[in-house]
Amino acid sequence: MADISTNFVGIQSPNPFWLASAPPTDKAYNVERAFDEGWGGVVWKTLGEAGPPVVNVNGPRYGAIHGSDRRLLGFNNIELITDRDLDVNLKEIYEVKKRWPDRAMIVSLMVPCEEQCWKAILERVDDTGADGIELNFGCPHGMSERGMGSAVGQVPEYIEMVASWCKQYSRLPVIVKLTPNITDIRYPARAAKKGGADAVSLINTINSIVAVDLDNFAPVPTIDGKGSHGGYCGPAVKPIAMNMVAEIARDPETKGLPISGIGGIETWRDAAEFISLGCGSVQVCTAAMTYGFKIVREMIEGLSDWMDDKGYQSIGEFQGMAVPNVSDWQHLNLNYVTKARIDQDSCIKCGRCHIACEDTSHQAITNMVNGERVFEVIDEECVGCNLCVNVCPVENCITMEQISGVDPRTKEPIDPDYANWTTHPNNPMAAKDAAE
Ligand SMILES: Cc1cc2nc3c(=O)[nH]c(=O)nc-3n(C[C@H](O)[C@H](O)[C@H](O)COP(=O)(O)O)c2cc1C
Ligand code: SF4
Ligand code: SF4
Repeated sequence: MADISTNFVGIQSPNPFWLASAPPTDKAYNVERAFDEGWGGVVWKTLGEAGPPVVNVNGPRYGAIHGSDRRLLGFNNIELITDRDLDVNLKEIYEVKKRWPDRAMIVSLMVPCEEQCWKAILERVDDTGADGIELNFGCPHGMSERGMGSAVGQVPEYIEMVASWCKQYSRLPVIVKLTPNITDIRYPARAAKKGGADAVSLINTINSIVAVDLDNFAPVPTIDGKGSHGGYCGPAVKPIAMNMVAEIARDPETKGLPISGIGGIETWRDAAEFISLGCGSVQVCTAAMTYGFKIVREMIEGLSDWMDDKGYQSIGEFQGMAVPNVSDWQHLNLNYVTKARIDQDSCIKCGRCHIACEDTSHQAITNMVNGERVFEVIDEECVGCNLCVNVCPVENCITMEQISGVDPRTKEPIDPDYANWTTHPNNPMAAKDAAE
């Protein structure tokens, strides 16, 4: 049976599944029940500095986007860091770690951007027996207005500075949690590395307004007639998170920097995708909030079964396997030609492929042949875009097939050799380069 244990920057964990810093990790009662269900680790809900804790709103703090089946697709929150006393949190972290020595215990931190503030909290966290710290440079609401969270994560120089203080004042591995609310994720990741961080984790939540209540014209969630932007997460953000993870994994300046992947992970498959893009652990928040701690059982079983099927004995054997296949557009093979193929036996004749192809301008799928409702691909028009595959309600009814010989659409022979835009005759830059 596959070994799914992980060693992430020296932090041992029986599996790669950690609960992300959020309400499910805000107290010992929760964390212990999560460990009972099998979670490999937790990142404790972000701690702030000593003194009176932050205060949350006392009304709705969540908003959501649902699919037509009411499945939660995107989730939004205006919650702050922990509103529980620092001493209580530290005591609970100490006790839980003592009772669960084999699980990863990471403590998330956010204090003002002053050396003394970081030094003070790091000393206290070191005494808890925790395995690592995560610097929350990502929270995009409330705390950022106070110069913390994403206000730090958006300035690479601050990231580097705080990471280096943490390395100086703590013996624990330092994970820098990045905000996605930035144009190019490579800059903060490089800064974290320069500051000596052991790893980065991403993503924290995305600035968002999920809905406007049209009765009172206020953003949702609404507090006494007003709303503020919140942080977006859940399945909808997975593609954004994976792209950012891949950017860091393939950037020559941060290549090899350990990454803990976060964002929309609900299943073992989501997790395996993040790991294939280079992640050494994954973190989950919305899925645990929506479906409860038990989802980890399916994650563990699914990942082990898949690894057994594929013959992978350890996570390391497929970690990062997808990274070399993430390419810039200009290097994609322009001689790779495909056409759509419709399996007439599984087609339910709904017509969605026809309408999509017709109105998206390729007009490559019939709807009537000899007076009968028949949906067939017209190879002479098909550009191989695969829109029809994506709109068809029957899985695998439409597939894409690579063709060779002459392309019926262009009437040109298909060159079997790889060639990309950098050398294409229509590329003015390529022509210029060749002339020189
Ligand atoms: C209600 C809520 C509270 C959160 N609080 C924190 C926090 O205190 N610290 C932090 O680093 N991230 C916090 N997050 C962000 C999550 O840790 C995670 O980065 C984000 O939700 C993306 O993961 P997901 O798509 O699995 O939810 C919070 C998220 C939610 C939904
Ligand atoms: S692949 Fe694109 S062009 Fe071809 S049939 Fe499907 S939608 Fe039309
Ligand atoms: S969308 Fe799929 S099921 Fe519907 S007509 Fe087209 S091929 Fe058939």
